[in-house]
Amino acid sequence: MKYLTLSSMRLLVPSAIPQPTRTGRLSVLLLLTLSFLSLISPTSCSILSSPADLVGKTYDFVVIGAGPGGSTISNRLTEIPSLSVLLIEAGGANNDSLTIDVPLLCTKLTPNTQWDWNYTTTPQENLNNRVLPFPRGIGLGGTSAVNCLVYTRGSKQNIDEWAELTNDSSWGWDAMLPYFKKSEKFNLPVDGHNVTNEFDPSFHGFEGYIGVSVPGASRAIDGRVIETTEERPDEFPYTRDMNTGDQLGVGWVQALIDRGVRSSSASYLNEDVLGRGNLDILLNTKVSRILPSPGDNETYDVVEYLDSSDGTLKTITAVKEVILSAGAVNTPSILLHSGIGNSTLLSNLGIPKPHHNLPSVGQNLTDHIGVSSTFVVNSTETYDSVLRNDTLAEGLLEEWEKAKVGINVDTSENHLAFLRVREGSGVLEMFGDPAAGNETAHFEFLFQNGLSSPTPSGNYLNIPAGNVSPKSTGSVTINSTDPFSSPLINPNLLSAPVDIHILRHAVRTAHQFVQASAWTGDGYVLRSLVNATVVNDDGELDEWIRENAVSFFHPVATAKMSGYGNWEWGVVDPDLKVKGLRGLRVVDASVVPSLPAAHTSAAVYGIAERAADVIKAEYGYGSL
Ligand SMILES: Cc1cc2nc3c(=O)[nH]c(=O)nc-3n(C[C@H](O)[C@H](O)[C@H](O)COP(=O)(O)OP(=O)(O)OC[C@H]3O[C@@H](n4cnc5c(N)ncnc54)[C@H](O)[C@@H]3O)c2cc1C
Ligand SMILES: *[C@@H]1O[C@H](CO)[C@@H](O)[C@H](O)[C@H]1NC(C)=O
Ligand SMILES: *[C@@H]1O[C@H](CO)[C@@H](O)[C@H](O)[C@H]1NC(C)=O
Ligand SMILES: *[C@@H]1O[C@H](CO)[C@@H](O)[C@H](O)[C@H]1NC(C)=O
Ligand SMILES: *[C@@H]1O[C@H](CO)[C@@H](O)[C@H](O)[C@H]1NC(C)=O
Ligand SMILES: *[C@@H]1O[C@H](CO)[C@@H](O)[C@H](O)[C@H]1NC(C)=O
Ligand SMILES: *[C@@H]1O[C@H](CO)[C@@H](O)[C@H](O)[C@H]1NC(C)=O
Ligand SMILES: *[C@@H]1O[C@H](CO)[C@@H](O)[C@H](O)[C@H]1NC(C)=O
Ligand SMILES: *[C@@H]1O[C@H](CO)[C@@H](O)[C@H](O)[C@H]1NC(C)=O
Ligand SMILES: *[C@@H]1O[C@H](CO)[C@@H](O)[C@H](O)[C@H]1NC(C)=O
Ligand SMILES: *[C@@H]1O[C@H](CO)[C@@H](O)[C@H](O)[C@H]1NC(C)=O
Ligand SMILES: *[C@@H]1O[C@H](CO)[C@@H](O)[C@H](O)[C@H]1NC(C)=O
Ligand SMILES: *[C@@H]1O[C@H](CO)[C@@H](O)[C@H](O)[C@H]1NC(C)=O
Repeated sequence: MKYLTLSSMRLLVPSAIPQPTRTGRLSVLLLLTLSFLSLISPTSCSILSSPADLVGKTYDFVVIGAGPGGSTISNRLTEIPSLSVLLIEAGGANNDSLTIDVPLLCTKLTPNTQWDWNYTTTPQENLNNRVLPFPRGIGLGGTSAVNCLVYTRGSKQNIDEWAELTNDSSWGWDAMLPYFKKSEKFNLPVDGHNVTNEFDPSFHGFEGYIGVSVPGASRAIDGRVIETTEERPDEFPYTRDMNTGDQLGVGWVQALIDRGVRSSSASYLNEDVLGRGNLDILLNTKVSRILPSPGDNETYDVVEYLDSSDGTLKTITAVKEVILSAGAVNTPSILLHSGIGNSTLLSNLGIPKPHHNLPSVGQNLTDHIGVSSTFVVNSTETYDSVLRNDTLAEGLLEEWEKAKVGINVDTSENHLAFLRVREGSGVLEMFGDPAAGNETAHFEFLFQNGLSSPTPSGNYLNIPAGNVSPKSTGSVTINSTDPFSSPLINPNLLSAPVDIHILRHAVRTAHQFVQASAWTGDGYVLRSLVNATVVNDDGELDEWIRENAVSFFHPVATAKMSGYGNWEWGVVDPDLKVKGLRGLRVVDASVVPSLPAAHTSAAVYGIAERAADVIKAEYGYGSL
């Protein structure tokens, strides 16, 4: 089988990564075995063991949440030796799990696991009232420790839209590109193959913290995907690099992987950073609210948290600022519980005063929705065969442990496509163009060589297709005064009529993709799991979509940036301070002004990198 032809690969064993120790027979249980790849030194004293360690300590900044937003900010602020930071994270160190470290195992990390907040959506009206899982990561790395690693920035037009919405060109593409690059530590794939035609180095950074790479092991369908771009370049053009601002086309995936190992935002909190001495991390501690300074109802610098050792609520006051980085779901929830939000709603719920009226808190939630087209193929060289054969699966995992090679070094797919609905198809004519511009994708494909969960028989080609320029918006809100109750998450998927038209088009295009002779010539694709009657009939296809589509888990914009002086909408100003307040900023996916046609962590890393410079400049450290 193609997976096992390791002898033909040039093996570059990474020197920077300590080699894991063999831990005996590999089994499913081994997934929970220590992998010894910890980025956190067990002896490091900057990981506090309990809130008791805070007694007598003060910090300039208290950061809440160790996902891409909070980890990046904590790292960059502590580059200044005279600034001190306390990072509070609800979960644990996440440093003992093979399932997190092995890129290909990403789909096993959620939902409803020890690494998940276990949220679900409200019943989705336009999805036959289905309640969808809505995973959010908990622990160091946040959702970046449980996601599927795809690194995409979206189009130049997407990021330029941020500049328009904030009336601030420093949130546009040209100003943001250096920050995207700053976060990135691009690394060559582990199999050492020639990547000249697979990414454009001039758009990447090589000295940042998060590892980004192109695939390090080939898969049996790679050649067919590329062949399709050669055969049908008008519809499916090859693109060398989707992260240049010009995103359209089919190309090699870039993923958040460092020499075969997941790179989450915990890489911003490595041993060197923890050794600085001015960063402390308090794990397993949930923040409940942010409160105003006694006697000053416009300065919110007091953080209230649950001390899990005695079950009481305690507070710590930031000397300079609180930075809220709890993610697009928990950030608006914490703000609302803190009395910051729509004051009518807060009063109706009985949230204690004072209230700071900002009706946009939790509103404008925007997310991607997708649905998979699955094809039965005439081959045994797909992941389905691995999932049905424990011996094979264990052998591959063992190879990963020993040398960081083989299919486990990559995420679920080796290729992506970002494509537009063609002019003349009726959709754009009927609804206008929902995308940020004419060079921005309407939909995305992920080309997967097999399904990610075991099936009793058969081999498959799986093509999840997402609507990446959705018009639908929803909300995160609360229905309780208990800060630890789950928020109500309503992405309101497919509520804008154009969205299902785009998805319909995407499903049909996926079926057309596999009509290329690269797939049909030798009879590789046998049939679709959805019958042609359904694919071709608008009504039946819509019904199938409503019954099968899921969230792509890319919520943003629940505490959106808007221009200075804009009191019509928005939660934070372009300097990320909560409008009308002092002492409180938000740095995470919540502030994203509009959802890019992309997986969202790249945006958060870029925004947080720039936010750090904004904050430093304000306190006299450097200039913008
Ligand atoms: C299953 C899945 C797959 C995904 N796939 C991709 C992908 O392939 N590529 C991609 O780019 N993006 C992907 N995403 C999205 C991406 O991971 C997020 O956009 C990104 O992590 C958001 O970063 P953040 O800092 O805003 O929030 P998060 O990463 O969610 O971090 C927030 C942190 O705050 C902590 N926190 C929350 N509440 C509290 C509290 N009350 N007290 C203390 N701490 C708290 C959380 O525990 C968490 O650690 C995926 C998401 C999911 C769920
Ligand atoms: C993980 O981090 C915690 C907290 O710092 C530490 O106590 C533990 O020893 C680490 N585990 C591993 C496997 O490195
Ligand atoms: C989510 O559910 C899992 C499995 O039941 C559990 O271990 C975990 O603690 C839950 N997460 C939270 C944040 O409660
Ligand atoms: C946008 O910013 C400019 C200054 O940079 C200002 O003159 C203008 O009034 C602002 N526009 C809006 C709509 O706020
Ligand atoms: C890699 O491929 C490029 C383009 O095909 C070629 O010009 C270059 O010489 C190759 N590099 C190596 C080291 O083989
Ligand atoms: C603070 O209190 C003053 C006086 O009661 C009030 O006018 C002001 O609106 C309050 N500000 C906030 C942010 O609540
Ligand atoms: C605030 O919430 C109330 C009650 O839910 C709602 O009627 C009102 O429209 C909201 N206000 C704004 C400005 O959104
Ligand atoms: C949502 O964002 C748009 C700008 O993209 C804005 O016009 C609208 O008022 C916002 N809605 C709310 C409720 O904040
Ligand atoms: C699958 O391919 C083999 C040749 O590799 C061929 O013999 C067989 O008929 C094909 N099966 C189907 C169902 O087309
Ligand atoms: C399972 O994989 C092993 C190792 O590759 C192989 O020897 C064996 O034949 C496979 N078993 C089946 C049933 O395919
Ligand atoms: C998009 O529109 C701009 C401005 O109208 C034009 O210059 C550009 O060529 C268009 N791009 C494409 C791919 O059609
Ligand atoms: C809040 O919403 C949840 C989920 O819909 C529900 O189970 C709960 O009963 C609601 N609580 C109140 C106080 O309405
Ligand atoms: C395709 O689906 C339609 C609608 O569900 C059904 O009526 C028809 O029998 C199916 N056709 C085949 C060939 O399975």
